[in-house]
Amino acid sequence: MKQKWLGDAVFYEIYPQSFFDTNGDGIGDLDGITAKLDYIKDLGCNALWINPIYDSPFKDAGYDVRDYKKVAPRYGLNQDAYRLFGEAHKRGMHVLLDLVPGHTSEEHAWFKESQKASPNEYSDRYVWADHCFRIDQYPYVAGESERDGIYMLNFFKCQPALNYGFYRPTERWQKSMDDPACLKTREAMKDVMRFWLDRGCDGFRVDMADYLVKGEDEKKEGTSAIWKDVRAMLDQDYPEAVLVSEWSNPPFSTKAGFDCDFLLNNPHTGYSTLFRDYVNHEQLSGSQNINNSSLGGEDYSFFRKEGKGNIQAFLSDYLDKYENSKEYGYISFITGNHDTPRIRRTLDTHELKLAYAFLFTMPGVPFLYYGDEIGMRYLNIPTKEGGYGRTGSRTPMQWNQEKNMGFSTGCKEDLYLPQDSAPDAPDVASQMADPNSLWNTLKEILALRHSEKDLQADGSFQVVYAEENQYPFVYRRGNLLLGVNPKAEKTSIPCNYLGEMLYQIGETTLSDGTLRMDAQSFFCLKIQ
Ligand code: NOJ
Ligand code: CA
Repeated sequence: MKQKWLGDAVFYEIYPQSFFDTNGDGIGDLDGITAKLDYIKDLGCNALWINPIYDSPFKDAGYDVRDYKKVAPRYGLNQDAYRLFGEAHKRGMHVLLDLVPGHTSEEHAWFKESQKASPNEYSDRYVWADHCFRIDQYPYVAGESERDGIYMLNFFKCQPALNYGFYRPTERWQKSMDDPACLKTREAMKDVMRFWLDRGCDGFRVDMADYLVKGEDEKKEGTSAIWKDVRAMLDQDYPEAVLVSEWSNPPFSTKAGFDCDFLLNNPHTGYSTLFRDYVNHEQLSGSQNINNSSLGGEDYSFFRKEGKGNIQAFLSDYLDKYENSKEYGYISFITGNHDTPRIRRTLDTHELKLAYAFLFTMPGVPFLYYGDEIGMRYLNIPTKEGGYGRTGSRTPMQWNQEKNMGFSTGCKEDLYLPQDSAPDAPDVASQMADPNSLWNTLKEILALRHSEKDLQADGSFQVVYAEENQYPFVYRRGNLLLGVNPKAEKTSIPCNYLGEMLYQIGETTLSDGTLRMDAQSFFCLKIQ
């Protein structure tokens, strides 16, 4: 599905704990997001994705939901969320909440019922084996419930898996997808979606969207069938609602009904070779390359000025995903997210300008992670609320040079997480005042995207120059020619295009059939 309003959408992801605190308790809140809508719009973003705001014990930063229909008190009241939707709409902006359909918190009322020995309405809401010892293949918890059974986990121990059934059940306790209990789980999640859509939310980013139905299902047909069913409900009752998946396989997710799917920073994906290729080459494994230890080895990222990258490593993965999804939905590039090391961890300001110039001129629907507009650092700090290595990417926004960098009027000790204490810690106010800052450069790039339809979600995309281990990378979007040379060396290639320069970082010239690019430069040319 490709909702019309996505055509010119640029998203801003907000980790609500760390965005803006309006009552001095040291934790960001919904009123803080509402207060900053004009700021976000001014930068050039016109849509939001907010990480979970629901009532939760916060053992996984809110991805452990205790009540899907209640705003966590620390963020405010439900009314504050409704007001945020209304204020966003007044400004022509859209708001996605985070839907966590695969699991709840172990403190959710459904789960407490499900744990009881006496059968009840929720007995099969979660995946239980009918004995109390071990199951192979899946993570599980044994010995914690009155009920004679063990339950499956989706992620952390606090996150029991909701029961959407097994694609091909192989054990007596595994239910099929169309078992009435599994259908009820599905309806319960639709009910949660309806609740928020009825109150003005514009759709959802969907957590672990590829992992509802369990069991052998290489093509994810079971889970896809559920999303198609959800989409049918949306088409009928909420025809403008948007679904963005955490799936990282656009050919699958877009056919299942998602409007957008993220390219994530998992090891060995094309995306990770652009900005964070230190991990791939260190052979680290794990979710989205978070590792708290110091970075060793070399950095092969395409956007590092050393120029050791290989654009083909990205394209060989991306082009296939793009070609096989563009008819159905969009690919979403991210600057980073709450699970990924900050892009600034290894890229300096100039490298970031070029990275953003590329990222926000690609097809699909891009996402900026809060704080990346000023190049906030990744901090080496202790874990909080299940963050572990991800915690360093979740620190409070740095708005200005005042108390707590303008994030909160509360005491420093009460802040959700410590802030960057470096003397040159970036902040929004200073960068807004500096025409050469990362903030202002990004603002210009976003303005360019909004002014040229060819640069937006549906504009066509072709590779013009992309050679193995070579710089630059040159591509076409509709009637525009764009190129990026992140390497600290000038470069030239044969090129017969001519036209009018719309935007440049550094200098590029076109004459005598040759395109000459400065070291660390970018251009966008309107072809004559
Ligand atoms: C993906 C989310 O982005 C992450 O933060 C969370 O820990 C897991 N899913 C589990 O919900
Ligand atoms: Ca607060």
